[in-house]
Amino acid sequence: MPSKSVPEPQLIFEKSRSGRIGCNLPASDTPEVDLKAVLGDLRENLDLPEIAELDLLRHYTNLSHLNYGIETGFYPLGSCTMKYNPKVNEQTAAMPGFAKLHPMQPAETIPGALELLLGVQDMLVAITGFDEITLQPVAGAHGEMTCLMLIKAYHESRNDAERTIVLVPDSAHGTNPASAARCGYDVKSISTNAEGNTDLDVLKKVLSEIGPKVAALMLTNPSTLGLFEPNISEICEMIHAVGGQVFCDGANMNAMVGTTRPGDHGFDCMHLNLHKTFSTPHGGGGPGCGAIGLKSHLAPFQPVPVIRRDNGPIIADYNRPNTIGKVAGFYGQFLMEVRAYTYLRAFGKEKIADISRHAVLNANYVRARIKEVLTPAHDRPCMHEVVVTAEKYKKENGVRALDISKRLIDYGFHPPTNYFPLIVPECLMIEPTETESKEMLDEFCDALISICNEAEENPDLLHNAPTTQIVGRLDETAAVKNLDVRWRRPN
Ligand SMILES: Cc1ncc(COP(=O)(O)O)c(C=O)c1O
Repeated sequence: MPSKSVPEPQLIFEKSRSGRIGCNLPASDTPEVDLKAVLGDLRENLDLPEIAELDLLRHYTNLSHLNYGIETGFYPLGSCTMKYNPKVNEQTAAMPGFAKLHPMQPAETIPGALELLLGVQDMLVAITGFDEITLQPVAGAHGEMTCLMLIKAYHESRNDAERTIVLVPDSAHGTNPASAARCGYDVKSISTNAEGNTDLDVLKKVLSEIGPKVAALMLTNPSTLGLFEPNISEICEMIHAVGGQVFCDGANMNAMVGTTRPGDHGFDCMHLNLHKTFSTPHGGGGPGCGAIGLKSHLAPFQPVPVIRRDNGPIIADYNRPNTIGKVAGFYGQFLMEVRAYTYLRAFGKEKIADISRHAVLNANYVRARIKEVLTPAHDRPCMHEVVVTAEKYKKENGVRALDISKRLIDYGFHPPTNYFPLIVPECLMIEPTETESKEMLDEFCDALISICNEAEENPDLLHNAPTTQIVGRLDETAAVKNLDVRWRRPN
């Protein structure tokens, strides 16, 4: 049941009392300088809080408890793969031999770091089935964009530059059309059929009309509906037949790692989110890694430096005549690669498939437990996430998916993703990930079932939620249009 509400915390400035001090400075061993004479009333001008050590400690400890994170609770944010990032990743990333490297050190002085980068590349080649991997892009969207830049360079290299259109299914993540537009392409949407698959009839028709103008298709697999696209090979063949390239949005690789390889499905390139599937931290815009996999015909265009073995030693190769250039500073997010390397080696070849098996099992368990109260968008097993609709509650009780999500906060859970993908009305997208126990999944499902009962019996409980937090229902439009997070000292 919902826990009681949290009192609104005071700011450190409000706790300040003149003359209180929280640190004990050692006696000065240099001549004293009269700062006041030089800088004036420094302390008054700076307006620093004055607070005792214990009060300071409690202040920040209590503030940290207001944060919700994977280490405090279940985080079923669909499409984001909020899995636990094992602590051993942090330990290796903090090793001075990695953490203290300077990005401008000559490559000959960092053979260990290059070996680690090559190790990640090799493991990702084995997992994805692509010929080459580059670790340069620093986010999933950046990986998408880099793939499209490579596709463009490939078409141009063949004097086939009249291709101006990128096809994107209507279930795609918003970054797909954005990446295409950023690369100067026009975007054409391809609809999804009633079964949740790319509509082949629509695709055929589009290709018969504009085939020679199509530069690429961006296909997410499993799709953002949490479904495995059964016609990938056929789709790839259709696009290749008109001279286009096929990009795989691999943000959902957590459903497939170790069990099937996009490189074998017919794709020409893909991006991976190391900050999802391979357990490096994410959120708040990074730092991430949108590693990309390439078939050999796209590899000559990849960004520099290319980390590769050169008859023995590993080199950072800048001498690549067809490269698109650089897409990130230095080698990309090096310490993310250290974390991903640690994670991959901890599983090893033998156990890597446990990741996807357990992720898919957990999502299907949630699906089965809640399907009587929240209807799955499609009537077939899901992959690593389940998309359900709350439309019935909207029609019958005036309760929306958003209200259910806000009420989940009162039950102590982070809400799932809402209203994405756009093609499912009143949708909730739940991605439990493989790191959650059955007990935790049961607690979450029990909460959802209880909330759906509340929706029928007392919809206002949901309309007014959350009521257990320091702030209630926020005006999200005002928060976006009129964001004001600055505190001003009252006069
Ligand atoms: C399906 C899909 N594609 C692409 C992305 C973009 O990844 P990033 O947030 O790392 O840019 C996301 C992110 O959530 C995603 O869910």
